[in-house]
Amino acid sequence: MAELNQAQLLELVNTKQIAAGNPRARALTQRIVTDLFKTIDEMDVTPDEFWKAMDWLSRLGQSGQVGLITAGLGFDRLIDIRMDEADQKAGRAAGTPRAIEGPLFVAGAPTTQWETRVDEGEPKGEIFVMEGQVLDTDGQPVANAMMDVWHANEVGGYSHFFPGMKPYELRRRIETDAQGHYRFRSFLPPGYGIPPNSPTSELFEALGRHGKRPAHIHFLVVAPGLRTLTTQINIPGDTYIDDDFAFATRDGLIVELEKNVAPTGYESLGITAPFTRSRFNFVMQKALNEDETSPAARMARVTAQA
Ligand SMILES: [Fe+2]
Repeated sequence: MAELNQAQLLELVNTKQIAAGNPRARALTQRIVTDLFKTIDEMDVTPDEFWKAMDWLSRLGQSGQVGLITAGLGFDRLIDIRMDEADQKAGRAAGTPRAIEGPLFVAGAPTTQWETRVDEGEPKGEIFVMEGQVLDTDGQPVANAMMDVWHANEVGGYSHFFPGMKPYELRRRIETDAQGHYRFRSFLPPGYGIPPNSPTSELFEALGRHGKRPAHIHFLVVAPGLRTLTTQINIPGDTYIDDDFAFATRDGLIVELEKNVAPTGYESLGITAPFTRSRFNFVMQKALNEDETSPAARMARVTAQA
């Protein structure tokens, strides 16, 4: 092959073709490769730096932590911001704000109608009940909405990812009643921290950043004819509430806590003493098409399209 300068090499990389391929994949790859060539040249990246980065990427993939890096570098929130902007332009910004799904959703959690114990009957920490209704943007109750709830354990671990936890521990699915009601008992979870001694922590240490998320609970709500709502609520008072490593907290999602609520009416959740409660309604937009009602979480959506 002829000698090449940088520009000639880039031109070859970006134009080689024996078939049409996927035009979108070609355009995106060309753009990213062009930007990386430029970065390497302008930042004078050394061979050792380049191969160290490639080794890190390989280890990141093996560790299953790609979703932590996308969150920590702001990509998950960026996608939400872009969807919010599109909603505003289309005049359909309404309902409960969306918040990032995060990489730790697991489909198939045990389902019950109206109420459940997310904590599986093992009292830990401060007893917490969250309750309310699922409504549409006209204020109508949504019957039979399916709500996935998941949160971290008392040391910030998620089942299926954190060693020693039972399958579907702290993961439940609730089907709303005829008036759209849901309620569940659990405990107030602590915040989350990225795993130490991992590819993710290596990068965040190199960036001089912490890897902490404030206490939160995840939700994925689906109902026929309504746009799937992926969101999180935050527990007020957390040190990191305005300094989330995933940039995911939002004003409309910080719940209010009522302390010392009388236990009457909560016996079916095993509550016999005053407890902490939060009332929160989830408001869902109308779906514009079938795709928006898709119950699939993000990885299932991606693989279904492949
Ligand atoms: Fe989380």
